[in-house]
Amino acid sequence: MTSPEPLLQVRDLRVQVGERTVLHSVSLDVNAGSLVVLMGANGSGKSTLGLALAGHPAYQVLGGQALLAGQDLLALPAHERARAGLFLSFQSPPDVPGVKNNLFIRTALNAQRESRGQPPLDAFDFLTSAKQAAKALGLPEAMLGRPVNEGFSGGERKRNELLQLALLQPRLALLDEIDSGMDVDGVRAVVEQVRRQRAQGTAFIVVSHYLQMIEQLEPDAVLRLDQGCIAETGDLGLARHIAETGFASRTAPAGA
Ligand SMILES: Nc1ncnc2c1ncn2[C@@H]1O[C@H](COP(=O)(O)OP(=O)(O)OP(=O)(O)O)[C@@H](O)[C@H]1O
Ligand SMILES: [Mg+2]
Repeated sequence: MTSPEPLLQVRDLRVQVGERTVLHSVSLDVNAGSLVVLMGANGSGKSTLGLALAGHPAYQVLGGQALLAGQDLLALPAHERARAGLFLSFQSPPDVPGVKNNLFIRTALNAQRESRGQPPLDAFDFLTSAKQAAKALGLPEAMLGRPVNEGFSGGERKRNELLQLALLQPRLALLDEIDSGMDVDGVRAVVEQVRRQRAQGTAFIVVSHYLQMIEQLEPDAVLRLDQGCIAETGDLGLARHIAETGFASRTAPAGA
């Protein structure tokens, strides 16, 4: 039996930010329904990988390839990458003043539905499912009527990212430190939602420094990013070892 083609295939990706090449050569595969944890010291380039894949204009791709379900992501503008099924939950979700949260998410969802050949959801049907999803995430309903993230607490911003994830149903979700700033119920909600969506075939790349959540997520692989490359690939044992010994002891000194 031949194994299925990975949902995401990243090959030799090289990314520059400002004057600096942050990713030198990143290659990784993620299968549908699987979960990869990405670890790495602060500043090693984890967020850079997510933002470059999502198409943030400040992250200049110098070379390499990224295919999502066979589609050349890097050739697409950011909104087309989202329509192809890519979702990025920001490490620091920005405010979008003047844009109501429910309208923002419904517009994004209907763009996705259009690309899947589904009819748009009207305001009533959308609100019904948005309220249900918000309740499941412990996010007050009033947050739906407020401008995106404006005045939201740190944890509320992260829950709002989870709300988008729940409603958009992407093929591949990259969660960049979704647990940071979340209380214990929030982290539990992350684990439950990831489990549910993974069972439906969504693939995940989860960036986290938090071993307890990583263990609960039952990853298929744990990767360590260092010096712009995937320096180590392992399983939960690698995450546990990093938690015990830190990153500094694993990093080869420059020039070694
Ligand atoms: N817009 C930018 N201009 C200049 N340098 C940047 C920019 N964005 C990121 N960098 C630099 O790129 C490097 C990688 O940053 P990145 O945010 O990807 O790290 P990270 O692995 O996500 O770290 P953390 O664990 O702290 O979130 C850092 O040295 C950072 O200072
Ligand atoms: Mg980061």
